[in-house]
This record gives sequence, C-alpha cells and structure tokens, in this order.
Amino acid sequence: MKHNTILVTGGAGYIGGHTCVELLAAGFNVVVIDNLSNSKIESLERVQKITGKPLAFENIDIRNLTGLRALFAKYDIGAVMHFAGLKAVGESCQKPLAYYQNNVYGTLVLLEAMRDADVRHIIFSSSATVYGASATPPYTEDMPIGAINPYGRTKAMIEDILRDLANADQLTPTQKPWKIALLRYFNPIGAHPSGLIGEDPNGIPNNLLPYISQVAVGKLAQLSVFGNDYPTKDGTGIRDYIHVVDLARGHVKAIDVLESFLFNAGGCKAYNLGTGIGYSVMEVIAAFEQASGQRIHYKISPRRAGDLAECYANPDLAYQELGWKAEKNLLDMVADTWNWQSQNPNGYDS
Ligand SMILES: NC(=O)c1ccc[n+]([C@@H]2O[C@H](COP(=O)([O-])OP(=O)(O)OC[C@H]3O[C@@H](n4cnc5c(N)ncnc54)[C@H](O)[C@@H]3O)[C@@H](O)[C@H]2O)c1
Repeated sequence: MKHNTILVTGGAGYIGGHTCVELLAAGFNVVVIDNLSNSKIESLERVQKITGKPLAFENIDIRNLTGLRALFAKYDIGAVMHFAGLKAVGESCQKPLAYYQNNVYGTLVLLEAMRDADVRHIIFSSSATVYGASATPPYTEDMPIGAINPYGRTKAMIEDILRDLANADQLTPTQKPWKIALLRYFNPIGAHPSGLIGEDPNGIPNNLLPYISQVAVGKLAQLSVFGNDYPTKDGTGIRDYIHVVDLARGHVKAIDVLESFLFNAGGCKAYNLGTGIGYSVMEVIAAFEQASGQRIHYKISPRRAGDLAECYANPDLAYQELGWKAEKNLLDMVADTWNWQSQNPNGYDS
C-alpha cells in the first residue's frame, strides 16, 4: 500500500521545507508539525507558492504526546519524516540537557505516538557527525559510530533506539514491522532554485555557507576560516557539501524503498546522503565569489576544537538501494545560495 500522507516533523525548517516541496511535487499529501523554535511559518507559505499545492500545518512540539495523539487521530498518516531537532554543535556543548531533552526525549515521545497509532514507517534525519573521529573518510555505513559532541551523540542515540525497535520485531515477528531509514546527511547547502526558500538561521550563522552569504550581502564584516594548517590540499577543512534539493529528493526515494522488497520483513538501514566529493573551505569561497561576483573578506583563525580535517561520504549504498545520487555540483550549490540570500537579505523577514 502506497503511503499517501506523510507527516513531516520540523517541516518549517531548512531541509524539511525543501523536502515538503519534493513530496508535494511527487504527489504526496503533507502534514507538517513544527514548534517554530528555529523557523518561520512564512517558509511554508512559500513551499505552497512553489508547488501550487496546499499542505496542512499544526504548531505541535514533538514532546507533546497528547498533541501528537490528536494529530494521528485527525490525519491518516502513512509514514513520518522526522527532521525536528536542535542542530548546533557548539550550542549542544553549552546546553547538553536541552539537546538530549529536545532530540532524544522528543523522538521517544514521537515513536510512542506512532506505535499507538500503528504508524511504523519513519525516515530519520541523521548526520555524518555520527562517524566521529574513529573512522576515516570516505565513510561507509558499516563503519563504527562514535560521535564526539552532544549533538552528534543525540543522533547516535536515536539511531540506536531505532535499531532496537527494528530488532525487537525480529525477536517477535509482527504483521506490521517497523520500517526505518536513517539518512546520514553530509553538509547540506544551497537553496531552492526559485530563491523563495533557503536557510534562514537565527542570529549569527554556525555554518559556512550562510556565513559566507551574509558577508556577501554586507550583513557580516568578514568570515573566519578556522584553521589553514590541516593536512589537506590547501590546509583548510574539507567537507562533502550537498545541494539541499538533492538531499530532499533522497527522502522521496527512501519513502519508496520502505515499500519495496528490501524492507519486506521490516528493518532499519542507514544510508549516506553526500556527493562523495570533498571541497575545502577555500574552494567554496572561490566558487561563491565566482557565482556571486562578490569579494568574500575572510581571516584565518585558529582551528576549532572538535573539527575534523576531512569528512566525506561513500554514497554508493544510496545509489544501489535507493536509486539516488546527487545531481547538482558545487557551482549550482553556491549560485542557488546566492540567489536566495540576495533576494532575501533578511531571510523570511525580508
Ligand atoms: N543542516 C545541517 O547541516 C544538518 C546536517 C545533518 C543533519 N541535520 C539534521 O536535519 C534536521 C533538519 O535540519 P535543518 O537544517 O533543516 O534544521 P532547522 O533548524 O532549519 O529545522 C528543524 C526544525 O525543527 C523544528 N523543531 C525543533 N525542535 C522541535 C520540537 N521539539 N518540536 C517541533 N519542532 C521542532 C524547528 O523549529 C525547525 O523548524 C535536524 O534534525 C538536523 O539535526 C542537519
């Protein structure tokens, strides 16, 4: 049976919003819940403008079991895409309880509501941070996980919880087993090519691309490049940047695969969503300057504790099993970021 209505937690956020566009375009009905702690309702107005299709929105926190129960009673939900969560590594070191409470406890409440409503298909937003420092890139899904900060540990813990759920079904076979995809994102950047939706961080951005683009529009004076003495091609850190639209499309592929023979008996599988190509900070700056025609002022600062020299995926499993691979290149990513930022210098408040 095809799942026609997808519950998207955190759907007003950056990746969730782009995924709503792809889900609506693929013919799914979409119900979004979000507590708007890191997003604006305007993003969902724009999702509907891009697609010309309506979606349902409820302002519900994933920790609100009563609210979730009412939601599952109201809508005929077939599967859940679970994006809701706090995501700043630095903040997670300062406020670990807030991160465990929101991300881990919130996911437990969501899973309880799903179990009670007999909705057992879930796609979870995991992260390359679960590979930690013990594995060496290119990362493959079978490498041991060992996150090195509270944010990463919330992701690793949630992965464990989801694997345990699927394993329990193997012990006591059930008519309706859990079917779970853990999507490990590498570094999502870019924006929808329309320029209507994109990343709109609160306050000073934590990630490279929003920072660069705010320097480009003059909101921030200069970029700090953390470390130029890594053992990499130009000394700056290397990451696997992936266009957010490619990432969003990976979720639509994953929903289809949960229905396929691969998951006939249920189960929980992890997939890397990356391009497999690593770019240095200096290469990203150069590409952004080329796409935008703007000069990016930067200074070299000391390395940040916990940053890895290199992080990139082996994305072969996603290609083999989901039939997905990234289509967009670095120039597409930076050009779409610039298109979004220049049209919306103050994000959704523009
Ligand atoms: N952006 C990245 O670089 C990246 C990388 C790897 C994984 N992820 C994961 O992907 C998911 C989405 O990331 P994003 O970049 O779109 O972040 P985002 O902050 O833009 O979106 C998350 C959304 O969840 C909502 N939310 C947070 N806590 C909630 C709660 N308790 N109840 C209801 N809503 C809640 C926020 O308001 C926000 O709209 C997150 O789980 C994040 O950890 C992101």
